[in-house]
Order: sequence, then structure tokens, then C-alpha cells
Amino acid sequence: MAEVCFGPAENFYAEWPPPTCIVCDGPYGVSGYPGDLSGTDGLAEWYVPHLRAWSEKATPQTTLWFWNTEIGWATVHPVLQTFGWEYKNCHIWDKGLGHVAGNTNTKTLRKLPVTTEVCVQYVRPPLFDGMTMQTWLRHEWQRCGLPLNRANDACGVANAATRKYLTADHLWYFPPPDAFEALARYANAHGNPAGRPYFSGNGVQPFTASEWSRQRAKFKCPAGITNVWRRPHVGGSERVNGARQDMRWKFKSLHGSQKPLELVDTTIQVCTDPGDVVWEPFGGLCPALVSSFRSDRACRSAEIVPEFYHAAVKRLADA
Ligand SMILES: C[S@@+](CC[C@H](N)C(=O)[O-])C[C@H]1O[C@@H](n2cnc3c(N)ncnc32)[C@H](O)[C@@H]1O
Repeated sequence: MAEVCFGPAENFYAEWPPPTCIVCDGPYGVSGYPGDLSGTDGLAEWYVPHLRAWSEKATPQTTLWFWNTEIGWATVHPVLQTFGWEYKNCHIWDKGLGHVAGNTNTKTLRKLPVTTEVCVQYVRPPLFDGMTMQTWLRHEWQRCGLPLNRANDACGVANAATRKYLTADHLWYFPPPDAFEALARYANAHGNPAGRPYFSGNGVQPFTASEWSRQRAKFKCPAGITNVWRRPHVGGSERVNGARQDMRWKFKSLHGSQKPLELVDTTIQVCTDPGDVVWEPFGGLCPALVSSFRSDRACRSAEIVPEFYHAAVKRLADA
């Protein structure tokens, strides 16, 4: 189901189903749309109630895409971390020279023209008995009393299991579900019976392969896409035109911050499967709603400005 709600997103989080993906394109602190802050003072605080609500509803499979200016992101990043969001990657949207097109008075601004925004990927790795996954895997194996290298016997490999899955250094890898299940089965069969179960989330039985596969965010890397997205600002038939009633915001384009569907498509498709739920708390013209609908994902969006809300409803109907 794709639905856009009229009103502040914070009024809806409690009733929205848990998200696999959150597309956050909220305030930047650049007076970019009515209600945006005029600077980064207070920006981090603005996001706190939203981050709190998202953190309560997110699962280990959830990916958050945080759109902003470079300085806006830098300002909010510490708060994202406080709420358990782990930085994965920063994507640069390079809108190209056409974005400047003689409009930037660099003599007054005394800096080079800015043609970029960032879209930063965060995940929420789970903790196991208060430990990171890497620490917990090693801890559980050590707890069962077997030498570390017996993990290789468990997985039927020469040395890769100990080196990849149980290492304490930065060369650690997430054990794929079949390897995890092999480790858990072996530890529970051959480890000290007194400490069983090993590799369990509930203290009753070990995680199954399918439960284990849900302990991290989904991700499928598309070929040929890097973290630099060279694409002009939205134009042509994709650009939604119109005017807000408030004359101060009367531009040809209805929304000053409309995101290209192509970029939003990428963010949604790399981290979700059909049927998954996408949240778009600060919808604007709701590109994530349209993108989700077109790719069989469910989506919940919110928007507080009536003109944007109605335009988003129409976009969805047209899609
Ligand atoms: C940066 S724009 C989003 C643009 C959108 N990604 C697009 O492509 O059209 C942020 C939007 O969030 C809306 N907004 C601000 N605070 C909100 C809130 N608490 N709940 C819902 N929407 C909000 C603003 O009216 C604005 O349209």
C-alpha cells in the first residue's frame, strides 16, 4: 500500500508498519522551502524526536538515507550515531554546472559555486547481550570452550571461518546464514554442554539461518553505480510545476527541493525487496512514494504543506 498522510510525520509513526527503508529528506537549514530552518543552529535538535521514533520502529534490516547539505549532515551525524545509526556511505549528488548557470554571485559569497547535496546511508546493527555482532560471535565461540580453529571444521573450510567470522580485527566478515548455522550447530554439538545454547538470541535455541539473515540491513549492489551521482536537477516533464498560495514561495517549480526519481529509485531498490515498507517522513512531492509504488514496495509518506500534499496525491494517482 502506498499512502501519503497530511500532517506532521511525528503524528503517524506509531501507526506505520516497521520500515525496511527510510528516505529522510527533511530540513537542511537553508530556507529551502517554507518551514525550513535558516541555518544549521537547532538542526540536530529538530531531528531528535524523529530519530527517536524511527529508532523505536526500525529493525536490524532497516536502512536510512539521510539527504542534506554537507554541513547539515555533519551537524546531524552525531545525533544519528547517538540513536544507534551506523554510518555506511556518503553519496554525492553532483547536479553539474547547469545548476549554477550564472545565478551564483561568487564575488559576494566569496566561495566556489556549490552544485552538490549528499545522501548518506545509515544502518542499525543490532547488539547481542550488549555486544556488537563481531564481538558476540567470538565471545560465543570462546564461551563454548572449543579452540578458535575448530570453526574451520564446523564450516568445512581450511582456515577461512576462523579468519573471517571469529577475528577480532578489521578483517571481519558477516557469516552468511549457512556458515552461521554450521558454527552454531557445531558449537552446540561439541562445545561445553553446561553453556548451551550457544549463538542464541532467546536463550532457548540458536538463531536459525533465516533468523540470522535478518540481523543486518538488506543490500544489493547494482552494477555501474558509484557513490558519485552525476545528474542534473529535476527538469522537463518530471519537474512538478505550480504555485503555493503564499506569494513568497511563488516559483514556476512547485517545490524547490524536488529529488530525481532515478536517484530515489536507486536508494530504495538497493536495500528493499518487493513488499517491504518504505517511510518518507518529509514527503514534499513524495518521490519515494512514487518510486515504491512503481516497484511494488509499500510506502508511508507525510507532508504538512497542502499544495505539496495535493501534488503528491496526484503524482501517486498518475503513477
Ligand atoms: C526537503 S523537502 C522534501 C522534498 C522531497 N524529497 C521531494 O523530492 O519533493 C522537505 C519537506 O518536508 C516537509 N515537512 C517539514 N516538516 C515536516 C513534518 N514534521 N512532517 C511532514 N512533513 C514535513 C516540508 O513541507 C517539505 O515539503
